[in-house]
Amino acid sequence: MTDLTGAAAIVTGASSGIGEATAHRLAQEGASVALAARRTERLESLRDDIAAEGGTALVCPTDVTDRDQVQALADATREAFGSIDVLVNNAGIMPLSLMENLHEDEWEQMVDVNVKGVLYAVGAVLPAMLEQESGHIVNISSVAGRRTFPGSAVYSGTKFFVRALSERMRSELAPSHNIRVTSIEPGAVETELTHTITDEDMLEMLESGHDAMTMMDSADIADTIHYALTAPEHVDVEELLVMPTEQS
Ligand SMILES: NC(=O)c1ccc[n+]([C@@H]2O[C@H](COP(=O)([O-])OP(=O)(O)OC[C@H]3O[C@@H](n4cnc5c(N)ncnc54)[C@H](OP(=O)(O)O)[C@@H]3O)[C@@H](O)[C@H]2O)c1
Repeated sequence: MTDLTGAAAIVTGASSGIGEATAHRLAQEGASVALAARRTERLESLRDDIAAEGGTALVCPTDVTDRDQVQALADATREAFGSIDVLVNNAGIMPLSLMENLHEDEWEQMVDVNVKGVLYAVGAVLPAMLEQESGHIVNISSVAGRRTFPGSAVYSGTKFFVRALSERMRSELAPSHNIRVTSIEPGAVETELTHTITDEDMLEMLESGHDAMTMMDSADIADTIHYALTAPEHVDVEELLVMPTEQS
């Protein structure tokens, strides 16, 4: 759709960072936005900000690792807005760690959120989109879905997964069902994402690495997502790798 006015959108991970900025931007462009994440107070505050600007948003407390909750999110969106036109499949965690430090619980959490959570959202919105014969799913991968770096083995694994999933989804869903699919692959964005890191080795490495660089901010990625969503109907932006100028 070249114009988001009246579109019904779901944004997962809307309580901070890229998801929050994207939900805000989509609402400013006229979309009705279902806000999904676990931190309900943050979602309520974003909904109030959107409403104060004349926009429409629905707070949907959701843990994306629970398939029933993700289904309830899709059902609530359809009931409130009548359709599901856009899914921004954004919720993610990044507890980076060196393999030798064996953060096995965090490996599993990344699979639960970044892989299974993404699939649950796809599964929850696809019936509506197939019925409508239209829709746009934006999956948030990462530069780490193209390259690995120290500590990123499992995180990169989840983001390579999202990129592979997106590629095949686009091939199967766009030509036959008019459901466009886009993989967005950001480099370093200044958000709360690194707050999930507990590995001391990684925290030390990050401390020294990021100071030297001007990172992107969440609005830069919201702009990128908006670009993909508003491309002409006959154009499907399959993937976009967006890097800070100073990141190698
Ligand atoms: N920042 C970067 O440099 C960067 C680069 C490339 C890709 N990305 C990707 O961008 C996406 C957004 O990350 P961000 O940078 O904006 O970080 P962020 O500010 O930490 O946002 C992560 C979002 O995911 C949500 N989330 C985490 N676990 C969840 C769960 N179990 N159920 C529902 N929501 C959950 C969080 O909400 P709650 O905690 O409230 O549930 C939060 O809203 C992620 O997929 C990340 O991998 C980020």
